Amino acid sequence: MEPAKNFVIDEKFIDNIFKPRQDFSHKGTYGKVTVVGGSYGKIGAAVLSTRSALKTGTGLTFSLAPGCGYEILQTSCPEAMFIKGGEDCIDRFPVEKDSVAGIGPGLGTDPKTKEAFLKFLKDYSKPLVLDADALNIIAEDEKNLKLIPEKSIITPHPKEFERLFGAFENSFERLESAKRKAEELKIYLVLKDHHTQVITPEGNVFYNITGNAGLAKGGSGDILTGVLTSLLAQGYSEEETCILGVWLHGRAADLAAEKHSKESMLPTDVIDEFGSVFEELN
Ligand code: APR
Ligand code: MG
Repeated sequence: MEPAKNFVIDEKFIDNIFKPRQDFSHKGTYGKVTVVGGSYGKIGAAVLSTRSALKTGTGLTFSLAPGCGYEILQTSCPEAMFIKGGEDCIDRFPVEKDSVAGIGPGLGTDPKTKEAFLKFLKDYSKPLVLDADALNIIAEDEKNLKLIPEKSIITPHPKEFERLFGAFENSFERLESAKRKAEELKIYLVLKDHHTQVITPEGNVFYNITGNAGLAKGGSGDILTGVLTSLLAQGYSEEETCILGVWLHGRAADLAAEKHSKESMLPTDVIDEFGSVFEELN
């Protein structure tokens, strides 16, 4: 095995990864996504993830959410199809066939959700994007870590990382432990922070330098989940998905900050800037 390496994600990386839309293509060319999340009072998280998947190029987008989110999701994301997974919280996981699933935003930790999610994981083997409460549920028992399908992408913020893998003295130790876990579990770890780090199962680390403190607002992480799920569904490899995804998310945030200021920009403003970021890339 080659020695592990550290990289800063720069525009050259992104130009090499980004694939422009092909003229002779159709929605089937760009994959299917199922965003799984939302619970009573947290349907907004599902809306942000679903809209982000829609705005970053996926061919078909499904939103698996509880019935209490039906009207909200169908109104705010008319391009997405709704899959009912319960009433006030998700208690079943009928992920659309052949789609890539991104699970966690606003999912909640109702006992019914927990039980159904762990049961779903036991029978599921395709790579997933896992965030927020999906990670919090897994973190309740160390044995659950083995249920994460190989090559999945997990996106913990520092507190979620601590719940999953324990507390560390400093960020160096946290990174070393993250490398060991990514290798052991054969997963991609997106350690969200001011400079988010992507850690591959080979132990390589990619540092992202786009993004700003305007993202320090509830909902910013839900956007990243939608973006990563969308890119994975479009056929980018797991590594490409993580690198392009964190860069896009941060770049859109930088454009939103220029327009609205870091103070006033909202996660929805970040979603609205994806179009300008793709214009820059094309
Ligand atoms: N500079 C740059 N990027 C930042 C900064 C900053 N100062 N602060 C936050 N970000 C970015 C992170 O890198 C990450 O991509 O914004 C995103 C924040 O993600 P989360 O911490 O998951 O935040 P949030 O959207 O609030 O999560 C929603 O999920 O994690 C749970 O408990 C959380 O209920 C909340 C929900
Ligand atoms: Mg979050």
